[in-house]
Amino acid sequence: WEVDKGPYPHFMLKEIHEQPESLARLLREVIDIESGALKDIVPTVDFRGADRIVMVACGTAHYATHVAKYWIERFARIPVEIEIASEFRYRPRVHGKHEIAIFVSQSGETADTLAALKDVQGHVTKTLAVVNVPTSTMARDADAVLTIEAGPEIGVASTKAFTGQMLALLALALKAGCDRGVVAPEMLSALVDDLVTLPRLVSETLALSGDIDQIARNLVQSEHVLFLGRGIQYPIACEAALKFKEITYVHADGYAAGELKHGPIALVDDAMPVVVFDGADALTEKTASNAAEVVARGARMVRIGASVEVCVAGVRTPASSEVVEPFVNAVVLQLLAYQAALAKGTNVDQPRNLAKSVTVE
Ligand code: G6P
Repeated sequence: WEVDKGPYPHFMLKEIHEQPESLARLLREVIDIESGALKDIVPTVDFRGADRIVMVACGTAHYATHVAKYWIERFARIPVEIEIASEFRYRPRVHGKHEIAIFVSQSGETADTLAALKDVQGHVTKTLAVVNVPTSTMARDADAVLTIEAGPEIGVASTKAFTGQMLALLALALKAGCDRGVVAPEMLSALVDDLVTLPRLVSETLALSGDIDQIARNLVQSEHVLFLGRGIQYPIACEAALKFKEITYVHADGYAAGELKHGPIALVDDAMPVVVFDGADALTEKTASNAAEVVARGARMVRIGASVEVCVAGVRTPASSEVVEPFVNAVVLQLLAYQAALAKGTNVDQPRNLAKSVTVE
């Protein structure tokens, strides 16, 4: 693996730009591109009798599990719990009879996630680690491993690992769905057709860098930024806020758009920019009405989505299928945070107080 910055000024930017390649590599690991069949990615994990899946992680990896919860419940019809490792470890838990516990970590060394894995051993049917580092402690300790094939990630703010984690978990959701007879062969083949467009659509999104730059420069002038989304765009909004605060030091919050009226709307005025992730899904109209509520209160609004009108401040993303959209939006949020940090002049690759891998509690 190459671990220099190449032509890029920062590892973070290099890693953002590596995503078409890292996702194509992972796609080849999980799908037989010729035949469109899913590969037997985790042969020792049997999803057929599973009555529950719990996914445990920290930071960005946690938001990848949050995105994947929608996919696993939809495609495999298994109830999913998502947990922050530092919370999961220290509370009494009730396990299912046939529960699969999935631990997601770029490094495979995060102390809380590792401890959570050790804790559940013997109490769940199977433990599965989804990691980027195949030689990590987590990969060694779990019953089964799925590697996200992202290559070394040096920038402290996780980028290509996030999209790799989402794709690996989506492949697991489809595998579980096929094994349980929920995903029929025609449905799988349509989804695989969508997935093969992923590297190209991610490349097209990277080309929107110029549009994103102007928005990033405006956002970073503010003291607070609110990111909103509904459904699968909600964890994307949370990851956007995390990335933004990590590297720009501007306070940012990620919120479910429908929850806005239960609190955060009190903060909205003309000094509060609100960034809305519009999904091209059944929730579009509802998100649009939440967006209208903030505009009515004078907020500066930025919309991100494939159906964004050109006249609106925002980023018009390439049209993509529902399963690909979170990846496209992930690239936008990464570039938005990166360019905002650049405008502010922070240390993008090594933000203050943060570590790449938190190996102590
Ligand atoms: C640190 C990093 C984050 C990362 C989190 C979890 O906080 O700064 O970027 O998401 O740890 O790390 P892991 O290696 O377990 O994915």
